[in-house]
Amino acid sequence: MKQPVVNDSVEALNGDMAKKNLGGHWQLGLESYLSYPETTVQPCLWKWKDIYESLMRAGEVVSMEQAERRTVRLLNPALRDRQATTHTIQFSFQYVKSGEHARPHRHTAAAYRFILQGHGAYTTVNGQKCVMEEGDLILTPQLTWHDHTNDSGKPIIWLDGLDIPLVQSLQQLLFEPHPEDAQPIQKTSEEVALAQGASTAEFFHYKWSDAYRSLCAPVGLASPDRFDGYFFEYRNPMTGGSTMPTIQCALSLLRPRQETAAHRHTSTVIYHVFRGSGSSIVGERRFDWEAGDSFVVPLWHPHRHVNGSASEEAILFSMSDAPVLKSLDLYREEPAGV
Ligand SMILES: [Fe+2]
Ligand SMILES: [Fe+2]
Repeated sequence: MKQPVVNDSVEALNGDMAKKNLGGHWQLGLESYLSYPETTVQPCLWKWKDIYESLMRAGEVVSMEQAERRTVRLLNPALRDRQATTHTIQFSFQYVKSGEHARPHRHTAAAYRFILQGHGAYTTVNGQKCVMEEGDLILTPQLTWHDHTNDSGKPIIWLDGLDIPLVQSLQQLLFEPHPEDAQPIQKTSEEVALAQGASTAEFFHYKWSDAYRSLCAPVGLASPDRFDGYFFEYRNPMTGGSTMPTIQCALSLLRPRQETAAHRHTSTVIYHVFRGSGSSIVGERRFDWEAGDSFVVPLWHPHRHVNGSASEEAILFSMSDAPVLKSLDLYREEPAGV
């Protein structure tokens, strides 16, 4: 056995170990352990007028060839070095003018688009033509080929949600351009919806008319969820599972003057105000929102929502990383004061 170092000390040991790429548990200190999950993501609100103005300016000065996708991304002020909205998810807005085409590609990041303004353009996902209407949700799961074509005669704007920060942190990011300028179209999403025995692998398109009908069905007949109002989750129609393995999309409907109770959870959520106006309390921040605005609720931040209108319903579209937390047994939620 080796003889102990004469006049040894913790400091000397720490220094010698550092030279050998070693470290002691004692160097961490108890203060590095918290009794609750901590995040660097900040609550943040983005106003639609700022996003829209940037999109219109980008439409003038940024070509599709230059950009691959003409999107304006929401950047969390605490994550500027990562160019991300949160540590797991990315929110962007895409503008495609009439006559434009965004060439096909695929990537390991899963994505979806939620259509905000315009209709009649289409996304092609693995050869399936999905014609866009306002409020539709179209999935491009990981490694599905996708390109966008606007032959509608009018511009279109949609919201893009991706799990790219999560995939990046797992060091699994892969991007591949398609060998052709446009994918050959083999079928339409309407044909898939009507087909008997369509597989999960072919289901990409949730129509707004179906989602809104499901969202409204319990209004007046059943009590809303305490924390989320009347709540509709976009579930995988074949498995009943989450929208995609890493992403849960949902709609919350708040009746005029409705207020939710406060809670917190280990998932992070981004909201987009699809209709209406109101406010949300997120931690110590209060966000007053109107249609088109977006805001982040970081994990474990207490939050509640209020429809500020006495006559109009409010509808919040949301994207969450809850499926990731649940699959790792890290999801928790509880009521919380705010
Ligand atoms: Fe893409
Ligand atoms: Fe929540």
